[in-house]
Amino acid sequence: MAEETLEAIARALVAPGKGILAADESTGTIEKRLRSIDVESTEEKRQAYREMLFTTPGLGDHISGVILYDETIRQSTKDGVAFTKALEGSGVIPGIKVDKGAKPLAGAKGETVTEGLDGLRERLNEYRELGAKFTKWRAVIDIGEGLPSAYSIHVNAHALARFAALSQEAGLVPIVEPEVLMDGDHTIDRCYEVTEATLEAVFNELFSQRAVYERMLLKPNMVISGKDCPVQAGPEEVAKATVRCFKSVVPAAVPGVVFLSGGQSDEQATANLNAMNALGPQPWELSFSYGRALQAPSLKAWRGEDANVQAGQDALAHRARLNGAARDGGYTPEMEKVPAAA
Ligand code: 13P
Repeated sequence: MAEETLEAIARALVAPGKGILAADESTGTIEKRLRSIDVESTEEKRQAYREMLFTTPGLGDHISGVILYDETIRQSTKDGVAFTKALEGSGVIPGIKVDKGAKPLAGAKGETVTEGLDGLRERLNEYRELGAKFTKWRAVIDIGEGLPSAYSIHVNAHALARFAALSQEAGLVPIVEPEVLMDGDHTIDRCYEVTEATLEAVFNELFSQRAVYERMLLKPNMVISGKDCPVQAGPEEVAKATVRCFKSVVPAAVPGVVFLSGGQSDEQATANLNAMNALGPQPWELSFSYGRALQAPSLKAWRGEDANVQAGQDALAHRARLNGAARDGGYTPEMEKVPAAA
């Protein structure tokens, strides 16, 4: 694939008014999500749920790309259209999660390293043949007593860079996702410190391993208070801290930053993104790549019933529209009340 095409794909994924739908839950994670609506996780139900999401009318208005999972990229609609084709038909770029999950890190109690590098070159080639245009790899950094260790930050950054370089070699845009978890009672300042150290390590490794910044996207956490911290920072503070942190460690050549929602409520994730974009233009596009914060209302409206497909799609379209508005600071909480079908 021509090299400028990777830049064009990266830019298209962060086009104005648009962001990414992360629908790449592993089999274990989607089982948890389906159990929350009392639906058993069979292949048929997983297909039906993803078909509902991917065939949402007007999906491409505010969704630029969808991240799929290994099972999902091989599936089709009930009418036999491959999901990748159905998405492309709506102007949505298909992508794929390629890591094999965070596993316990040897000699580092409570910490993980993401696996999946062995055989990755071959898997990337297969995913490209299946229609993927971009890839994602998630590393997990936990904040706790004495955590994270420099060791876990280093090995996770190293693996992220190996993934990014291989992905670019295969003609796929890598989305590099180092997630500093919001679990715990730590302050926003502690999150700042750990996020800055993590991103610094990640970009050092990306540079050393010859990844090209213009041909990738960064998918980080926001700089935010720990979930159980008694003092919760509001959108203005989150926005200022996040932008300040990123300006010191994220190269301006990276076309876009697509945030994960990480357990924030739907409305919080939208309000925080909006507050960042309301600060004015930054070196990179600031967008979203939400899983839970886009899917949660849709999952609840659907409840596993064919009769609720439209309600589920309306709920997804509504959240996508609000996050699309947050891309340029145009979201207001009043917009939450507008009925989904309006
Ligand atoms: P959340 O937005 O639910 O954190 O999911 C994004 C994601 O892709 C995690 O890997």
